[in-house]
Order: sequence, then C-alpha cells, then structure tokens
Amino acid sequence: MAADKFLDGKVALVTGGAAGIGRAISLALARAGAVTVVADVKIDDSEQATHKIIQAEGGKARSLELDVSDFEAVKESFKDLEKELGGLYALVNNAGITADQLMGRMSREQWDKVIGVNLGGCFNCCRAASRVMLKGREGRVINVSSVVARIGRPGQANYAASKSGIEGLTRSLAIELGHRGITVNAVAPGFIDTDMTRALPEEMLERFIENIPLGRSGSIEEVAQAVLFLAGPGASYITGQTLHVNGGLYFG
Ligand code: NAI
Repeated sequence: MAADKFLDGKVALVTGGAAGIGRAISLALARAGAVTVVADVKIDDSEQATHKIIQAEGGKARSLELDVSDFEAVKESFKDLEKELGGLYALVNNAGITADQLMGRMSREQWDKVIGVNLGGCFNCCRAASRVMLKGREGRVINVSSVVARIGRPGQANYAASKSGIEGLTRSLAIELGHRGITVNAVAPGFIDTDMTRALPEEMLERFIENIPLGRSGSIEEVAQAVLFLAGPGASYITGQTLHVNGGLYFG
C-alpha cells in the first residue's frame, strides 16, 4: 500500500459532505484511500456532486441522503451501512447550520433547529457509529466545532452553544471509547473562505482578517488536512482534543 493511501479500504462517513468544508474533507479522505460515504440532507446527483468527483478520480464513494437531526433515520442508515460495507472506521460530524439572531429576538425555533442539527445530529451519529466501531475495536470520530465555541459571537448564542456542546461531547466520548481503541477529537475552524464568508460586506471581511495573525482566511482544504491528520496513523495517541485551525485567531 502506498504511504499516502493510509485509509485504503477503510469506510469513512462525512456528514454535510455535499458542500463546503464537508466536500473538501470527503475528497481528502477518499484520496487517502477511504471508501467514503457522503451523507447530506441535500443530495446532488450531478457530475459535480462530491461522490461523483471522487468516483471520477478513481476513488470509492457513495452518497447517502440523511438528515442528521432525525434520530431514527440515522440509526437505520448506520445499520444498513454496516451490513453493506462491513463496518465503519471514521465518522466526521461536519453537518452544521446557523440561524443568527440577537438573544431577545431569537425564536425558540431558531434555537431548537441549530441545537437539533449541530449538537443533536452529532449525538445521533456518534451514538449510531459507536455501536458499529465498538465491534470493530477501532475507529476515529472527528467532530467539526468552531472558533465561535470559544470566543463567542453576538447573534450566535445558539450556534456557539451547539459547538461548545460538541466539544464537551467529544471529551466525554473520548473517555468512554478509548479503551476500545477509538479516538474522538474535534476540529475547530476559524474564519474559512466559503460562500458564507465571501458574502460578507468588504469592510466586515477586512475587520475579521485584521484579527488573524496569519493575515488571511483559511481554506476548506486546510480544514480537511486537519481532519485527515486526525483520521490517520499519526494521530493514533491523540484523543479528546480540539485542534484549532484558525490562523492564530484563538490559541485554545
Ligand atoms: P455549508 O453550509 O457550506 O455546508 C454544510 C453542509 O451540511 C451542506 O451540504 C448542507 O446541506 C449540510 N447539512 C445541513 N443540515 C444538514 C442536516 N440536517 N443533515 C445532513 N446534512 C446537513 O457549511 P460549511 O461552511 O462548509 O461548514 C461545515 C461545518 O464547518 C459546519 O459544522 C460549520 O459550523 C463549521 N464551520 C464553518 C466555518 C466557516 O467559516 N465556513 C467556520 C467554523 C466552523
């Protein structure tokens, strides 16, 4: 096996893998040899779909239509995948949404939706995946948090709470699963160049960048490389950690 194919034949599932950071993570895992399941609430079947790009490159991938906030659907999907693919090595909980509003104006729906998808989805998938990984006595769980979990941001109390919850879940699950050879870590991206950040007014963009020691936003590939590291052999003794990918915006 080539050294760069360190995930050769291992099954990896990425939630929210159809777009943005999740797409870059799916591509990186597949390029390292993983049989990659691209799970997303929105499934694209065009030639530009993540799983199609992987297949076109000669990698192994399939798509899975899944709403991570649906407990029963997650449970059933993971059972089916285990039957079809024989196990699960890596789970990347990347699916995430925002519904920003200042506290006094935030609706209960905005709160519940963000907590339900970001934190509830992470719980649903960790629960379903851990049952599969425990049997295999190996595995990597990587949860995508955000710098906002640590530094906060006005209008994002729901989002910050969901991401802080993910980091707490990560530490607890790392203790629970460690004795079976399963590591559980988080990656906390900072200001990443995505459609969302590109849509910000120029002035606001400049203000954000001014506070980043590396003087620029990060790329989706740079986040994907951190996830790939945590899924790979070099991270075998790392668990319960949050890896900050933020250009120095926050040090942890
Ligand atoms: P994005 O909006 O480009 O992609 C998110 C993907 O998740 C989409 O394909 C969407 O369909 C999917 N998704 C949404 N709800 C879902 C659900 N209920 N079930 C399954 N899939 C669902 O987002 P982006 O920017 O790529 O973010 C990915 C992750 O990185 C999120 O967890 C986000 O909070 C986190 N993050 C992003 C940062 C950024 O600057 N873009 C910074 C810090 C963290």
